[in-house]
Amino acid sequence: MTSPPYNVGKEYETKTSIENYLREQEEIIKELVRVLDSKGSICWQVGNFISDGEVFPLDVFYYNIFKNHGLKLRNRIIWQFGHGLHSSKRFSGRYETILWFTKTDTYTFNLDSVRVPSKYPSKKYFKGPKKGQYSSNPKGKNPSDIWEVVLNDWEQEIWDIPNVKANHAEKTAHPCQYPIELVERCVLALTKENDWVLDPFAGVGSTVLASLKNNRNAVGIEKVKKYKDIGIQRVKDLKKGILQFRPLEKPIYDHTLSKLSQIPVLP
Ligand SMILES: C[S@@+](CC[C@H](N)C(=O)[O-])C[C@H]1O[C@@H](n2cnc3c(N)ncnc32)[C@H](O)[C@@H]1O
Repeated sequence: MTSPPYNVGKEYETKTSIENYLREQEEIIKELVRVLDSKGSICWQVGNFISDGEVFPLDVFYYNIFKNHGLKLRNRIIWQFGHGLHSSKRFSGRYETILWFTKTDTYTFNLDSVRVPSKYPSKKYFKGPKKGQYSSNPKGKNPSDIWEVVLNDWEQEIWDIPNVKANHAEKTAHPCQYPIELVERCVLALTKENDWVLDPFAGVGSTVLASLKNNRNAVGIEKVKKYKDIGIQRVKDLKKGILQFRPLEKPIYDHTLSKLSQIPVLP
């Protein structure tokens, strides 16, 4: 799981043509595919590359590279967030994507570990052969491929994953961290305990932290010492139980909501 450099001229990258950038990335992807377990997944989190005001959606370019290396796309997840720069010559960008690929058809997928609450968990079928039975899965529902950011995710049935900005609990000196929570969803769904997770562009270690926190093993590769050092400190803080992070949201049930919103007590 990773968020590669986007070639947008951040302090850790030298902006080059999209062709050069993708050629360099393909060399790395080739190796990632080689070491990927047959049940394993690659999650590639990207936004847009902008050149002279023109938008190049990186996932569109990356898709062909992964496909040419034999991987199969399982989801193109939209990670939506509420804040960001305001554009004046186009609509403001408010989402990035995660391309989730697998190597084979027998991949690990633990849906139950990432279900979100159904809107009406107490609703029952009122006719037909299932009459009287609960119509939704009491463990919650599939979170879908849109991971949106709103504060009232319980009511809106969507995942609340803010991007990491100045006032976020996880913010470090890195200019484009992603949230630990975003990675946790992927790690929990796509790996088992004691599996290995690799981030080839580890930054300040968000992937590593999300993995260790959930009893997975992790390897992070990062070329900038300053970010690597912060990442190592964060791992130490995690082990001491003092790492600042936004917890994986287990929505809190509001008892003032309608009767249909109450979680049924199972026999
Ligand atoms: C988008 S950031 C990843 C941030 C990370 N997801 C986090 O939450 O901290 C990309 C990172 O890749 C690193 N990087 C770029 N090229 C690299 C390379 N060839 N090898 C290792 N790291 C590299 C950059 O220094 C940067 O920290």
